[in-house]
Amino acid sequence: MGENGKKGTFYITTPIYYPSDNLHIGHAYCSTAADSMARFKKLTGYDTYFLTGTDEHGQKIERKARDKGVTPQAYVDHIVEGIKGLWKLMDIEYDDFIRTTDDRHVKCVQKLFKQLYDQGDIYKSEYEGWYCTPCESFWTELQLKDGCCPDCGRPVEKTREESYFFRMSKYQDWLIQYIEEHPDFIQPSSRTNEMMNNFLKPGLEDLCVSRTSIRWGIPVTFDEKHTVYVWLDALSNYISALGYGTDHDELYRKYWPADVHLVGKEIVRFHTIIWPIMLHALGLPLPRQVFGHGWLVLDGKKMGKSVGNVVDPVVLCERYSSDAVRYFLMREMPFGSDGEFNLKAMLTRINSDLANDLGNLVSRTVAMIEKYFGGAINVMDGVDESVDRALWELAEQTPAQVEKQVNAFQFAAALQEIWKLIDACNKYIDATQPWVLGKDEGRRARLGTVLYTLAECVRRVAVMISFVMPRTPERIFEQLGVTDEALKTWDSICAPFGALPMDTKVCKGPALFPRLDITKELERDQPKAEAEAPKEAAKEAPKPRKEEKAKKHEAPEFPAEIAFDDFCKCKMQVARVLACEKVEKSNKLLKFRLSFGKDGERTILSGIAKYYQPEELVGKQVVAITNLAPRKIAGIESQGMILSAVDDADNLRLMSVGEGVEDGAIVG
Ligand code: MSP
Repeated sequence: MGENGKKGTFYITTPIYYPSDNLHIGHAYCSTAADSMARFKKLTGYDTYFLTGTDEHGQKIERKARDKGVTPQAYVDHIVEGIKGLWKLMDIEYDDFIRTTDDRHVKCVQKLFKQLYDQGDIYKSEYEGWYCTPCESFWTELQLKDGCCPDCGRPVEKTREESYFFRMSKYQDWLIQYIEEHPDFIQPSSRTNEMMNNFLKPGLEDLCVSRTSIRWGIPVTFDEKHTVYVWLDALSNYISALGYGTDHDELYRKYWPADVHLVGKEIVRFHTIIWPIMLHALGLPLPRQVFGHGWLVLDGKKMGKSVGNVVDPVVLCERYSSDAVRYFLMREMPFGSDGEFNLKAMLTRINSDLANDLGNLVSRTVAMIEKYFGGAINVMDGVDESVDRALWELAEQTPAQVEKQVNAFQFAAALQEIWKLIDACNKYIDATQPWVLGKDEGRRARLGTVLYTLAECVRRVAVMISFVMPRTPERIFEQLGVTDEALKTWDSICAPFGALPMDTKVCKGPALFPRLDITKELERDQPKAEAEAPKEAAKEAPKPRKEEKAKKHEAPEFPAEIAFDDFCKCKMQVARVLACEKVEKSNKLLKFRLSFGKDGERTILSGIAKYYQPEELVGKQVVAITNLAPRKIAGIESQGMILSAVDDADNLRLMSVGEGVEDGAIVG
């Protein structure tokens, strides 16, 4: 136990969000998970600090503000209000909200930058890129669309820009060793291999950390034509918010290092490579853990404004309650992997888990106590039947099981443990048949025991669900007549069964979660993408090819046999994905830039956009046919074919030979 009887401190962060007036349920997923964890830690006695915020600098914001005719500051101020409103609606109860435009953050970043420069970890050099004169924008090679500006489509010119660089390469070996010695640092652990094999072991390049072409950023104090560029600015929020480097660094001293940075999988890389190196270079301790959660996907694609499949959390919360939305997000998605957002699945869970299992248990328990005891149980006998004992034991064991699962970020499993208790209560009602006991005056004490057992279980359930559903417990406590705050604590459910006073006066209230008419709800609220999908598909009307036929599960027509020599004509090679991006105006196509080692590079298109996010493929090895005649698809020449396998359930996997052979190796 630490200060104030607390078990210790717990510091958790979400990423800082880009200001968008269109935050979707995917963003809410990350915040809900962090909030649930923070609430759980507070509930179980930790002195907890939960930080979130916004990442407000950069060219995009500068341009959007200009388009709207407002200053960048006015533009972000307005959006940040909306984001805070969403978090309020979803009961995301943060302790602090840091904005990268806050003076406290700006000063901290300037100080860090200067320190790194003074000690030789930041140096001046030149950044080479492409410049679009009409848009006044710099682009990297990978950002170009068909060699032109991705915004206006006009030709770009190769340019050099003076920039400061952070000496990441110097710390590469140190970081590899650190990660090897701290197996819990990157979670889930599968992401460790990804970082090691795809980024660290191939070698780190120094990182460009300033630009002269972007004005909407933090000025470098000793060279004011430069502004600090992206990650050095953004990542510092985790310590600038705690007052690091100021005279008021009490929070920093109390809470740093963070216990966990919770981030989406696509930014694990920045948090486990750039951030640790920055901290180490500054002589500061590293966060204990970076947890990379999966994405909430819709129709197999990451949600985002650009794919037009955003599901609005405001609409969902207003219609079904924030507790129901939070419950669904934490119950349905296996935390760490991607999960499909499906409205029907959500409505079904609301009806089955919340309205039926939980709602009915509460209403039946309260109704029976009112009916048979006028609202307060006044007599009971001992725990003399094995059914009672089994339920009491389960209720006593459940909190420890829940705690174990939440601590491992297994929210779904934790909720399952709670629902095991709820199910057991519902089965207990069926087994003990209180309505039969109620007819027999001689069994009144037995009836008291049964209903008391249920009421005490319901109280325990209410305490346990509060970290995911912060509003529902109070509504349950009201119905149960629990007013004593001590009976709402985690400690009170870790104590032996029976803390609820026997004669507590219950009071029936409205249904916790009214049953929904799923068909009606679906009609009015199908996510946009489902309605739009057929139109999109019709637009593309691809000509069926052999590989696409297979995806539609029609048996491809193969000859019964082919000559060995014919097979040998097909040149298959191992290739490494250098870059991968979606092809504009296509739902299906990904454009790959592949390296074949000494055989050079090629561009190949593949119709697998629905199965993979482009980012996750970069760095991976694939197999491609390289002597197919090139052909133009969507106006781009595809110089070969990438091989994959697809089954009848539409599971598609890219073919790979496993790491260990050089890029360009012949497959055969
Ligand atoms: N600004 C950077 C983070 C800097 S942290 C020092 C950023 N912002 S973001 O707004 O694009 O994303 C914020 C978080 O939302 C990320 O963790 C991202 O993974 C998460 N999500 C965005 N869309 C998501 C889904 N569809 N599903 C789950 N999480 C999603 O990245």
